[in-house]
Amino acid sequence: MVDIDTALDAGGVTNPQVREYIAYWAELTGAARIEVVSAADDARLIAECLEAGELEPAGDGRYYSRSYHKDTARSEERTVVATSRPTDKGEYNNWKPAAEMVALQKERMAGASAGKTMYVIPYLMAPVGNALAPWATGVELTDCRTVVLHMIRMARVGVQYVNDLEDPNSFVRAVHVTGDLENLGQGTPDDQRYFVTVADERTILHYGSSYGGNALLGKIAHGLRQAAYDGWVSKKFLAEQYMLIGIHDKQTGKDYHICGGFPSASGKTNLAMMLAPDALGDRYHVSFYGDDIAWLWVDEASGRLYGMNPEYGVFGVAKDTNEGTNPTALDSIAPGTGTIFTNIAYKPETGEVWWEGRTKNPPADPHGWLDWLGKPIADREEGDDSPWAHPNSRFTTTLDNVPNIAKDYDEPAGVPIDAIIFGGRTRDREPLVRAIHDLAEGVYDGLTLGAEATAAAEGKEGVLRYDPMSNRPFMAYGEGDYARHYLDVVGAAKEQPIFAHVNWFQRDPEDGHFRWPGYRDNLRPLLWLLQLKNGEVKGQETAVGIIPTREELNLDGVDISDADLEAILSIDVNRWKQEMEHREEHLSSFERLPEEIWVAHRRVAAALDQQD
Ligand code: GDP
Ligand code: PGA
Ligand code: MN
Ligand code: MN
Repeated sequence: MVDIDTALDAGGVTNPQVREYIAYWAELTGAARIEVVSAADDARLIAECLEAGELEPAGDGRYYSRSYHKDTARSEERTVVATSRPTDKGEYNNWKPAAEMVALQKERMAGASAGKTMYVIPYLMAPVGNALAPWATGVELTDCRTVVLHMIRMARVGVQYVNDLEDPNSFVRAVHVTGDLENLGQGTPDDQRYFVTVADERTILHYGSSYGGNALLGKIAHGLRQAAYDGWVSKKFLAEQYMLIGIHDKQTGKDYHICGGFPSASGKTNLAMMLAPDALGDRYHVSFYGDDIAWLWVDEASGRLYGMNPEYGVFGVAKDTNEGTNPTALDSIAPGTGTIFTNIAYKPETGEVWWEGRTKNPPADPHGWLDWLGKPIADREEGDDSPWAHPNSRFTTTLDNVPNIAKDYDEPAGVPIDAIIFGGRTRDREPLVRAIHDLAEGVYDGLTLGAEATAAAEGKEGVLRYDPMSNRPFMAYGEGDYARHYLDVVGAAKEQPIFAHVNWFQRDPEDGHFRWPGYRDNLRPLLWLLQLKNGEVKGQETAVGIIPTREELNLDGVDISDADLEAILSIDVNRWKQEMEHREEHLSSFERLPEEIWVAHRRVAAALDQQD
């Protein structure tokens, strides 16, 4: 074993608690070496990964990696929030006793990094100096070099963040051990993997995956689960799976900020990178603050609800990203950006990459192309039309590369929130947009968010399920307590944000086409929502909220049929009535659900009943 002190001295770690933590896990996992990393190590680590074959060149400072074929998505069943309090158990957090899970993870991790380097990644999940920075520091330990490269792109990484702590013990301990991926029984009754957040010990223990969603602990486990728990215990903040954008109106000079939750692979990144449609571009500009996580709190000076993105990069879905859908994303992953692609199709000879929807048809000559499994496309059997890229293939790039990044994204202040939206893939029932009357109804709407499962998590794609607040995979404590906390935090704000539910994914039942063109045109319903908040439009009242009239929605240059428009701007009362029964059962599964939420539910149900 290495001399731990020498390695920590070389890495500049002065915080004694951090040193103790690293030494403990280095010994337990049996790592052969310790290396403390910072963002400045990127080029060297890239070179090492290329040399070792962990990355391949993908043209002009971009890289390609392939993950183990049974390790391509987050695993919700194997993800656990553990604490020492049984009352922390919720419907979705897979609660387990802390003592049991810590013992189990230690047993799995013992000796599991033998012969490998343990990389020490000190990180900060906040802009420096932000009000929530005290909850944002962590140290990830990982035995996987590509995880380091992803973390450098996705978080602020450097030893200064942990050395400078006022309370030297106030960092999250985040341990990632890959394990022997080929022998973990993924998806079988003998599955060895567990992804555990020991929330009341501020310790994260993930074993059995090197896929980003399971292995980038600053982002997923700390940024969402741990922070949600911390925000609740401290009574200070919310940590949500939200995108966060700014909309600048050049005519009035006003700036608006909207955040919102959609389940994984349902459009957050695309919305945050949205280029205003041509017809509106002269007047509006959309800026990117965040595409996956927002922490929200009430700003002391102004009394308003504020939000910030704790991340430093984008871990985006590749599928369907092209010049038409998302030119901003293509610029973000252009030559020279240092982008890492995972599980797309790749041509080693030229370093070219491709994914479904990148172009209308795949490259005409398949020779030399490998699919995401590394198999030559040219060797495929006749009729094999399986995708070239994995449906959850991803790109990882830093915020600096995003052309519409907000000028003030790195400022400590954060931004005031004007609107909070929820959405997901819902093929019927949900209109394009419906504005919600008040906070309680907003929380009710979030809790009853129903959407189709996507490829970002293991399991059946396309199955409709409830995904409260798009947080189903990230719920850290009971949903009733969560609802109470949400009502308290947002309710304390002087000026209330407007809530709304949006849906870009309604389909024609006959041929399955998306009724709304989506992508850049999604700005239109958001502008309507802001106008509604400003009292500039009235909309039409329905039992489930206020929806735009055709005239109010700016449709200049939108290519949509009358039938499709009619469908996405109307409410199918009977379909909604059916839904209300499911909601009743769904909400009943939550303990300690605040009475305000039930009142909102009954109000919507009564309004629907009056529409007979
Ligand atoms: P995120 O995981 O929530 O950030 O979702 P992304 O923005 O990465 O999008 C996930 C998938 O949905 C990608 O394949 C996108 O091309 C697709 N998508 C995003 N926005 C829209 C939209 O407005 N309409 C349609 N039809 N697809 C969209
Ligand atoms: P996504 O982010 O929501 O953009 O897919 C990653 C994840 O939630 O796994
Ligand atoms: Mn996400
Ligand atoms: Mn995303």
